[in-house]
Order: sequence, then C-alpha cells, then structure tokens
Amino acid sequence: MKQLLVEAISDSEEQTIRFGERLGSALRSASVVGLTGPMGAGKTRLVQGIAQGSGYSGRIRSPSFALLHLYQGRIPLRHFDFYRLDAIDEGTAGEWEEEMDREGLSLIEWADRFPKILPDEALWIDLSTESATRRRITLRLRLPTCHLDHWRLL
Ligand SMILES: Nc1ncnc2c1ncn2[C@@H]1O[C@H](COP(=O)(O)OP(=O)(O)OP(=O)(O)O)[C@@H](O)[C@H]1O
Ligand SMILES: [Mg+2]
Repeated sequence: MKQLLVEAISDSEEQTIRFGERLGSALRSASVVGLTGPMGAGKTRLVQGIAQGSGYSGRIRSPSFALLHLYQGRIPLRHFDFYRLDAIDEGTAGEWEEEMDREGLSLIEWADRFPKILPDEALWIDLSTESATRRRITLRLRLPTCHLDHWRLL
C-alpha cells in the first residue's frame, strides 16, 4: 500500500480556513476526513473552512464533550472529536463506522486515537505547529498498489 502525500504551509489562521474552504468544495458526500495534530494545531479552524466550502456558513465549535456535532450545509456535515473518547469496544466501533457511512461528510478530530474505525479510503490531514502562526498541513491518501513514483509540481 502506497500513500499519496501533499504538504502545504499555512502562515495564518485565515490561510488555513481558506485551504479548508477549497477542500470543502471539492469533497463529496460520504467522504471521511481524519484530522490529526496536537492541541491548538488548527484542526477546528480547518473544519471551519471545510464547512464553509461545503455550504455551511454558521459557527463551528469543537465537539469535545458532545463527541459529534451535526451541521446541515449543501450536504450534512458530521464533526467528530475523539479526544475525550476513552475506549471503543467492538460494539461501539460498529456504531461509529455506521455514523461515518451515512450520507454527508465526516470530519474527525483526533482520529489517530482510533484510526482503524476510519475506512481505507479516508483522507488524513495532519497539522503541525511550526511557530505561533505557521502550520504544516500534510494530506495523506492511501493508494492501492499502483506505479505512482513520479510527480511534478506545475
Ligand atoms: N496558520 C494557522 N492555522 C490555524 N490556526 C492558527 C494558525 N496560526 C495560529 N493559529 C491559532 O491556532 C489555534 C488553532 O485552534 P484550533 O481550535 O483550530 O486547534 P485544534 O487543533 O482544533 O485544537 P484541539 O485539539 O484543542 O481541538 C487558534 O487559536 C488559531 O488562531
Ligand atoms: Mg479542535
């Protein structure tokens, strides 16, 4: 299994939101996005942008305690946060998977706490903090065996 990696640098909160916005207009119903990175890295900011790009213009807040917030944009948005989720047993794993399978776009903060719950085709986005205002955003997509070993930046 190979991975397609794309790295971007964001120099402000606004750039991260705009980056998310572009992504949100490209993503379709049933897409699953796992967001990783330490506290304050910008996961929720990116979700705000993705939500805007997918037609939802209201406020987005981290669903840390609720675990899941639902927003209705052009498509339903499911905003998960696994940070406060202690354990996922087999029964609840099935429920989470079903939830992600529903119509809409699923965005999961702290998805690396339970990575196996996400489908293979999920898009993973890692944010890391390089300075007070700079973030490195890495997109990862698992690819089935293929011969992608050449790329160009145009
Ligand atoms: N380039 C940037 N991109 C995104 N956020 C930035 C950037 N520079 C500074 N920030 C600040 O970093 C913080 C990011 O907060 P945010 O709530 O999005 O983080 P988070 O990764 O969701 O954290 P948590 O794990 O606590 O949910 C905000 O206060 C934002 O203003
Ligand atoms: Mg957050």
